[in-house]
Amino acid sequence: MNFQSLFRKKSVAATHHSGDADSPQLVRNLSLRDLTFMGIAAIIGAGSFSSLGQACFSGGPGVVILFIICAIACGFTAMCYAEFASRVPASGSAYTYAYVSFGELFAWVIGWALLMEYSIGNIYVAFSWSGYFTNLLDGVGVHLPEWLTINYRSASAAFRDNIQGEGYQAWTNAPQLGSLRIIFDLPAFMINVLVTWLVYVGVNESRKVSNFMVLLKLFIIVVVIVTGAFFIDIDNWTPFMPNGFGGVMGGAAAVFFAYIGFDAVSTLAEEAKDPKRDLPKGMMYSLIICTVVYVLLALVLTGMVSFNQLGVSDPLAEVFQLKGVKWMQYFVSIAAVVAMTSVILVFQLGQPRIWMSMARDGLLPKRFAKIHPKYKTPGFSTIMTGAVVGIPIFFTDETFVLDFTSIGTLFAFVLVCGGVLMLPKAEKTDGPKQRFRLPFIDGKWIVPALVIGAFAGLILDDSNYTSDLFNFNTTNLSAKLPMWIFLTLCVLMAVMSFLRNLSLIPVLGVLSCCYLLTGMAPSNWLWFAVWLGIGLVVYLLYGFRKSKLAQQG
Ligand code: ALA
Repeated sequence: MNFQSLFRKKSVAATHHSGDADSPQLVRNLSLRDLTFMGIAAIIGAGSFSSLGQACFSGGPGVVILFIICAIACGFTAMCYAEFASRVPASGSAYTYAYVSFGELFAWVIGWALLMEYSIGNIYVAFSWSGYFTNLLDGVGVHLPEWLTINYRSASAAFRDNIQGEGYQAWTNAPQLGSLRIIFDLPAFMINVLVTWLVYVGVNESRKVSNFMVLLKLFIIVVVIVTGAFFIDIDNWTPFMPNGFGGVMGGAAAVFFAYIGFDAVSTLAEEAKDPKRDLPKGMMYSLIICTVVYVLLALVLTGMVSFNQLGVSDPLAEVFQLKGVKWMQYFVSIAAVVAMTSVILVFQLGQPRIWMSMARDGLLPKRFAKIHPKYKTPGFSTIMTGAVVGIPIFFTDETFVLDFTSIGTLFAFVLVCGGVLMLPKAEKTDGPKQRFRLPFIDGKWIVPALVIGAFAGLILDDSNYTSDLFNFNTTNLSAKLPMWIFLTLCVLMAVMSFLRNLSLIPVLGVLSCCYLLTGMAPSNWLWFAVWLGIGLVVYLLYGFRKSKLAQQG
């Protein structure tokens, strides 16, 4: 095996797919408005309606800072995506970008990590969707048995730990097949089937449904913010960080999850009417709109009630219940169901298109690139996506998939920002054809200055967080390892920026995403490493030999 072949690169010109009999070009249907709406559709969902609760509980009102940090990290990343999307307006998103900048192995790894973002992320969203949907059904007098509305792992854990409630009841009341209890989340499974079907029958149908859902969810969220503002008691904002900065960072996976999705716009390159112009704009606009919504939402929530009442899976409904505004509870549940359906829809659109690109490159079997003759969608890949989301619904739980998704996505973001640094300078002058150009700000002095400033801040800081970080005599060294690696990376980037005049925005993108990675639990890193290991084996056994670049010699 030739080691160098692992890093063979695709040229930007080769990313253009002009179509063939099996995999013709997709139809260009999507305008800038559609793409922006698709971005909002993918961003606002389970993160704001479910996981936000735990983040507020852990960080208190200070969670607003985390929203701003995540917005900055995503903003830098979005600019890097935009630069790529404008230069390489091809299906496949970060996977294709990595192929032209880092080479095949990294492209495969990104494709593999994106599987976590879109498919595993959708499992979390489907579970959250089910929670709100079941509430709505209860509201109109339809009660599904508990064993059909919760996942097996949660029910089993509730019974084992003797936690009374839905999970415990599900376990005790479930019908049995031999010794196996039949417990699964039926609504989560059904929404996956429904959306898979919609995505299968056409992007145009999906676009119309998605646009409608975005308008509805934005309207309801504005009503939530405005109504909630009347209940704000500013005393709830103090203390601002009840569990210190460590508590705020404890919500990193949950808050970052709320932002995931703007990048999904870039998977739709082949269906965009003017991808070079509209993909960058669509990503940026959707991110800006959602950031404003999130900061306001976090302020309102933490202002309405004490942060320690927010550690629930349906925080938006909970706050209005606590305030006795019953009609708002239903309103919120409807918004949640709509919002999460739209996330599932866009992710379910994105994943097959990445597989399609990988199959066109020979890294997956050809069937993944096949376009349905009537519906003009990647039919087989779409059904496979439905299976990858639908089957684990039977045996995973929310917490696991949430953290897993955030790690995978951040990892992809780091490589996209790093990829921009690797792009050849010559291509940066490809004239008027490139509609978006990342502004070049020389990082030579700014990055070292920022890093020195950050280290000075750490040295001068006398909080428990910092003194614990530099205490080498404790037993929980593994918990601090990610932060030490991050600090080392900061120093390396400062040196590289100084020596090579690196562009500031992608450098800050890499650093801010890596910083968020330090907030992920160590156990999840282990799972992530296992996941990457499996991906590597699959690549070496299949993609490495079958790659189109390998065939071309
Ligand atoms: N950002 C998306 C959500 O919160 C993934 O559901």
